[in-house]
Amino acid sequence: MSDSFVNMFSDTVTKPTQGMLQAMMTAEVGDDMGGEDPTVNRLEKMVAELLNKEAAVFACSGTQSNQMGIRSHCFPGDELLIEEQGHIARFEGGAPAAISGITTRTIRGQYGMLDLADLEGKVYVDNQHLANTKLLCCENTTNGGGGRAWPVEQLQQVCEWAHDVGLKTHLDGARLFNAVTTSNVHVREICDGFDTISICFSKGLGCPMGSILVGSGKQILRARRVRKMMGGALRQVGVIAGGAIYALENHVERLADDHANARTFAEAISRIDGISVDLDGVESNLVFFDVAADVGDASQLSSALRERGVRIGAMGPQTLRACTHLDVDAAGVVRAADTIAECVQTGIQQFAAAQFGPFFRA
Ligand SMILES: Cc1ncc(COP(=O)(O)O)c(C=O)c1O
Repeated sequence: MSDSFVNMFSDTVTKPTQGMLQAMMTAEVGDDMGGEDPTVNRLEKMVAELLNKEAAVFACSGTQSNQMGIRSHCFPGDELLIEEQGHIARFEGGAPAAISGITTRTIRGQYGMLDLADLEGKVYVDNQHLANTKLLCCENTTNGGGGRAWPVEQLQQVCEWAHDVGLKTHLDGARLFNAVTTSNVHVREICDGFDTISICFSKGLGCPMGSILVGSGKQILRARRVRKMMGGALRQVGVIAGGAIYALENHVERLADDHANARTFAEAISRIDGISVDLDGVESNLVFFDVAADVGDASQLSSALRERGVRIGAMGPQTLRACTHLDVDAAGVVRAADTIAECVQTGIQQFAAAQFGPFFRA
C-alpha cells in the first residue's frame, strides 16, 4: 500500500512508533511465567495502582484477558449477562461456552449499554433447572454500540445493582482510555465498581499486541492459572510490556486527537447525499454510518473505497464503521471523506454486492 493509503478499518492496524520500538528493544526481560520479567512486573504494578486494584496480569489479547476474567469468576453451569452487542457475546468465537462451560444471556439495551430497567428480573433464582447467574459484563467504550462511552453514573448504578443481587462484575475495557477521554473523569471512576477489568494495548494505545486483566489479588491469581491453561503464559514478554508502558506514558492524552478526527470525518460525511450518520452518537474514535440502498450496499462502498486507497469495513448490509487512530491524521480523514463523496457520486453498483454483510450467511 502506498503511504497515502488511509486505513480506517480499525484501531488495531497501527504500527509501533519509533519511540515505542525503542522502548521495546531496550526493555529488561526475564522469564515471565516464573514472575521474573521486570518489565512485565512493572507494567502490572503500574496498571493495578492506576486503577486502585490489588493486582494485574498481562495477557496476549483482549479476547484472552476477557476470557481469563470470565473464567476467574465462573464455573461450568454458570451464566453471564451482557448487552447483546457486547464483544464477549458476539465476537469471541463462543469462548465462554467453549472454554469455560458458561452460557451467555444477552439483553437488549441501547448503544451497547444497559440500565437498571433492562436488568431488572434477569437474575435466576437458585434452582436446579436453571443456570447459575453469576456475572455481569459491560463494555466501555462500546464497540458494537457505536463507540459510545457509558454515562459514569449509569455504569456505577448497574455495578451497584449487580453486587446487591450477588453478581460479580467484569469490564471489557478494550478501549477504556477512549472512555476516559470522552467522559473526562479519572479512570478509577469508571473502574471502581468492577471486580475485574481488561484493557487492550493493541487498540487506540497503538501497541502491536497485549492486554492486561486487573482485579483483586485472589481473582488475578485464579486468572493466572486460567491464562496458563489457555497457553497464554509467556516467557521474555517484557519486549511487549515495554511497548505497553511506553503507550501508557505517551499515547493516552493523544486519544483526544483521534476523537477530534472522528468528529471531523463524521461531520464531513454527514454532508454527503446518500450517506447518513448520527452525529450525536460519535463520542470517541468509531464512526458508524449508513449508505442509502439506492446508492448500493456497504460492501460495495467498502470495495470502491479500497480501490481508491481508503479502507473502511462493512459492518452490516448498509452499515460501515470507520475508525481513527495513531496512524490516521487530520488530512487522512478529510481524504477519506472526500473519497466517500466521490464514490457515491460516481456510483458503486459495479462492485460485487454481499447481500448480508460480512458476518451473516442468511
Ligand atoms: C470491545 C472489544 N473487546 C475485546 C476485543 C478483543 O481484542 P483482541 O482482538 O485483542 O482479542 C475487541 C477487539 O476488537 C474489542 O473491540
